[in-house]
Amino acid sequence: MLKSLLACCLGASVLLTSFCASAEISIIPEPQHIEAGHGSYQLDANTGIDAPGDARAREIVSFLRDAIRDQTSIRLSESVHAHGIALAIDPSVKGDEAYRLSVTPRGVIIQASTDKGLFWGVQTLRQLLPLEHGASAAIPAVQIEDAPAFAYRGFMLDVGRHFYPISFIKKQLDLLSYYKINIFHWHLTEDQGWRLQINRYPKLTSVGAWRTEADGSRYGGFYTQAEAREVVEYARQRNITVIPEIEMPGHSVAALASYPELSCTKQPPPVPTTWGVFKDIDCVGDKATFTFLQNVLDEVMTLFPSPYVHIGGDETPKDRWKDCASCQALMHEQGLKDEEGLQSYFIKHIQSYLASKGKTLIGWDEILEGGADKNAIIEIWRGDDEARKALENGNRIIIAGPFYLDAPLDKLTVQDIYRTDITHSTSPEDDSTFIAHRAQILGAEAPLWSERANPFNAESKMYPRLLAFAENLWRSGMHDDAAYADFQHRLQAQYSWLDMQEVAYGPENHPVVDYSFTVNVHRDGWQLQAKRGFDNLKNHYTMDGTEPTAQSPLFVDEADIRQPGTLKVVPFRNGLRYDNATNFTLTNNRALGKPITFADTPSPHYAPGDVLVDGVMGSADFHDGRWAAWNDGDVDATIDLQQDTTFHAISIRFLLAPDSRVLLPKRVTFFTSSDGSHWVQLYTNMPEQDLSSPARLQQIDFRSMKPIKARYVRVKAERPSSAPATFPDGAKNIWLFADEILIQ
Ligand code: ACM
Ligand code: ZN
Repeated sequence: MLKSLLACCLGASVLLTSFCASAEISIIPEPQHIEAGHGSYQLDANTGIDAPGDARAREIVSFLRDAIRDQTSIRLSESVHAHGIALAIDPSVKGDEAYRLSVTPRGVIIQASTDKGLFWGVQTLRQLLPLEHGASAAIPAVQIEDAPAFAYRGFMLDVGRHFYPISFIKKQLDLLSYYKINIFHWHLTEDQGWRLQINRYPKLTSVGAWRTEADGSRYGGFYTQAEAREVVEYARQRNITVIPEIEMPGHSVAALASYPELSCTKQPPPVPTTWGVFKDIDCVGDKATFTFLQNVLDEVMTLFPSPYVHIGGDETPKDRWKDCASCQALMHEQGLKDEEGLQSYFIKHIQSYLASKGKTLIGWDEILEGGADKNAIIEIWRGDDEARKALENGNRIIIAGPFYLDAPLDKLTVQDIYRTDITHSTSPEDDSTFIAHRAQILGAEAPLWSERANPFNAESKMYPRLLAFAENLWRSGMHDDAAYADFQHRLQAQYSWLDMQEVAYGPENHPVVDYSFTVNVHRDGWQLQAKRGFDNLKNHYTMDGTEPTAQSPLFVDEADIRQPGTLKVVPFRNGLRYDNATNFTLTNNRALGKPITFADTPSPHYAPGDVLVDGVMGSADFHDGRWAAWNDGDVDATIDLQQDTTFHAISIRFLLAPDSRVLLPKRVTFFTSSDGSHWVQLYTNMPEQDLSSPARLQQIDFRSMKPIKARYVRVKAERPSSAPATFPDGAKNIWLFADEILIQ
C-alpha cells in the first residue's frame, strides 16, 4: 500500500496529493491546473446532459453519449429532466481552446467560451471514466482549468509512398482528438502516387495513383472527393482541421506521369517505385503549369475549408529548369538571378493565388530559398538554422524536424520527443532569435513519412510517441527529469485504453522486432532469431508463399528453418498484426556458412561481410540488413570451403542504384585455389554501367561445362576508378553493395 501510494504521489503533481489515497487520475496531455476534490460523481442511466441548443453543442452531446456508452456500457438518460452533466458557454473562460471542468459528487460541469473548449473538456472527461463496463461509473472529484500552450499541434500522414484506407484515417482521427491534437496534415501527393481525385484532371488518379512494382504487381489507390469530404467532416466533429498538401514544384513525378506536358522535358516518366529526390519537376516556364495548378487548387479549396493550404516546396532539384528554354526565358524576363529566384517567383505566384481565395500558404523550409513572403507559414524540417532565418524574415513557423515519426523507435524515443523544447535552440545564436520571436512559433507537427511505414506498422511508429508529442505541445516548458517521470507514470495507465481501442502501439525506446539469421551448418539450414520489443509478441510465418496470419505456425525467439525457399514472417501482439510480411529468400549452396575473409573491410554502417555466405538474399532496399557495402576499397573476398569441393557455378549479386551513388564494379573476376596461395583465374566480366537506370539487382554468373574442384574461391570486384561528373564528391563517394556469393 505504502509503495503504491508513494508511486502515485510521485507520479502526480503536488496538487493531487489528496486523491492519491483513492482514485488515480491520469490525463494526457496533463491539464495546466488540476486539483483533486473529495469523493466522486456516480454516473449511471439516470444521468443526463444539459447543454446549449445549438447544432455544434448537440453534436458534442451526442459524441459524449456515444463515448460513455462505448467505454462503460451506460446509456445516459435522454429525459429533459435528467441532469448530472452540464455543458455551458462561459465567456469568463479565456482562450479559444480553453475549458474548465469541475467534477463533484453532485455532478460534472464543463465550461468554455467556445465550442472548441467544450469539446476538449469532453475529451478530458472521457479520460476520467473507468475502463470497466458496469451499471454505474465513478468519476473522481476534480477541478481542472486548462488551455494549450501552442495553437498548432499537428500530425502529418504521407499517403503517397503507401496508401492508407479511410477506415485507418478515421481511427487515427479518433486517437489524435483524444489527445487533443488539432491538425491533420494530409500529404496527398508524392512522386510515387497522386491520391486525391481531381475532376478536371482524371489521369492524376487513373495514371498517377498507380505504380508497377519491381515484381510486376500494381500498387496504388486514391481518395474520391466524397471520401475527402467525409474525412474533413469526421475531423471537424473531433476538433481537428484537415490541411491538404499538394506538392509542387518537386515531388510531383506522379503528376508528370499523368500529364507530361507539365514537365520541362514533356516526356512522361514512369510513376517511380523507389524513394528519393527526383529531378523531374513542374516546368515553371510554361504558363500551362500555373493554369493546371490553380485548377487543382480550386478543387482542393472546395473540399478543404481549412484556412491553410500546404504546397510542399521541399527538395526541388533545379537541373531541369537549368536545361529548359522556357524556364530560362522566364528567369531572364523576370530579372531573376538564378533558379532559386525562379523557385521563389513560383511560390510567391501560388501564394498570391491562394491569398486571393482567402487562404494562407504553408510550405517546407526550402521555400525560404530565393526569398519568401512573410505571410507564408514555414514548416521547419532541416534544423534550427532554417527556423532562425524564417523567424528573422518575419514568418510564422511550425517545427517538424525533431518529430519525424518514421525515425526508428530506438533513435527517436518517447523520452526524446517529450524533452524537445521547441521554444529554444541548442545554438546560442539561434536561441536568442527563438526567444525574441516566440510569438511566431505556432507550434509543431509530427510527420509520418511512408517510405517504410504502411497501414500495418504505422501505429507502432505513432504511439506512444504521439502522446509525448501531444503533452509537449499542450504544456510546453515541461521537459526535465521530474516532468518526464510524471508523464511516464501517466503513460502506463493509457496503455489499457489503447489496448481497448486495438491500437498496435510500439515499445517506448526499441524496435518492435529485429530479425536476424544464423546459418546452422550442421543442419544445413538457418536459425531465424527475433529480438522482440514486447514479451507477448509472437512471430507467425509461412514457407509456401502465402501471407502469414495469426493461425500460421509461430515462433517466439527463434525458429529452426531446414529448407530453402521464401520465408514470410509477420509479428503479432494481442492478436493485432504489427507489420507487412518480411520476406526472406533462402538459398542453399556450397558457400553457405563457410569462412569468408576480405582484403578490404566492408563498411561498418551496413551488414557484416559474412552476409555474403549466409544464403539469405537481399531485397531492393539496401538497408534491409542483407547487404554488405564498400565505400573505399574493392570487394575482394576469399571463401574457404574447408575441403576440396566439386562445383559448376559461381555467382555474386550487386546492387545498382545511381541515385544513391551505388554503382556496379568495373570488373569482376573469379579465381580458385587448392592451397589458398596459388590461384587460377576462371572468369572475368565487366558489367555495363547504366547511370540512368532505376535501382536494380545485377547478378554476375559463371557456369562451367566441366566440374571444378577446389577448396578456396576468391571473388574480386573492382570499384570504378573515376566517378561520373554528376557525382558530388567523385570516386570516393561511390559505393559497392553485394548481398550474396553462391557456389553451386
Ligand atoms: C521533407 O522531409 N522532405 C519535408
Ligand atoms: Zn521548364
